[in-house]
Amino acid sequence: MDGDSTTTLPVWPAPEGGRLSAQMLEDYQRTGVLVLEDFVAPAACDALRRRAAELVDGFDPGSAQSVFSTTEQTQHDDRYFIESGDKIRYFFERDAWNDNGELQAPTIDCLNKIGHAMHDLDPEFDAFSRTPELRELVNGLGIRDPGIIQSMYIFKPPRIGGEVVCHQDSTYLYTEPESCIGFWFALEDATLQNGCMYFIPGVHHEPLRERNRRNAEGTRTQNETLDPAPLPEHLKVPAPVPKGSLVVFSGRTPHLSGPNLSERSRHAYTVHVIDRSCHYPADNWLQRGPDLPLRGFDHRVNRP
Ligand code: FE2
Repeated sequence: MDGDSTTTLPVWPAPEGGRLSAQMLEDYQRTGVLVLEDFVAPAACDALRRRAAELVDGFDPGSAQSVFSTTEQTQHDDRYFIESGDKIRYFFERDAWNDNGELQAPTIDCLNKIGHAMHDLDPEFDAFSRTPELRELVNGLGIRDPGIIQSMYIFKPPRIGGEVVCHQDSTYLYTEPESCIGFWFALEDATLQNGCMYFIPGVHHEPLRERNRRNAEGTRTQNETLDPAPLPEHLKVPAPVPKGSLVVFSGRTPHLSGPNLSERSRHAYTVHVIDRSCHYPADNWLQRGPDLPLRGFDHRVNRP
């Protein structure tokens, strides 16, 4: 960590054409986080929400009752999750069902997320994920040969939206050398009440704490400790942001979010970018089949 302790996160208006200023880049390098307001037009946020709702309408909730939880060590077979790296799959909140095994609310308000390849498999998600502005931004952050490794549509539904415990994304999207950067789009206002993100600025200069690996059978994943120092969670800073904001954060920047105890959802969309020139281990949980090679910001042209 550099000498200055930081108690606020850098917030900037979206840069023209996605071209980061020297001051924005310095802020990102210092804190590991950058909030860019109005990066996406409200209409584009609404369109992506409508598309997600259409996908959910086409999903049979009885077909997969997979729960995504960061607070429980699940011991069951996790193949539905582990095999979702090149698919569009649906994950429920832990509290989605009542005692009779029925969903407590409309499906869209019971889901934790959709993941993890909408950006390659759905034209509308593809277009949202591959704008010239985002391409330029990624370029400005120094990723020479970008590949969009993962997308997630996060619902954080009213009342049952679960907390996400403090973690670093490079734990899960590990490359050698590390190259992961997260791009978190607020599709609705994210507030202290509906479970906004929190970040620990400056800690991206510290070592990665854990690495997640899948087992040889591809049925389970497990974290291994790389550095036992606890993440300094008491230094977390909330990031309430208005709809249309983009939060950029390093794969080493610790972050978390609280539960949504409010009556309003907190939809967000994330993509994670890695550098394709870096080594991507075969025991990372997220793997892609040969039919869906890792793509950068080229439009609908698969590159080997
Ligand atoms: Fe994360």
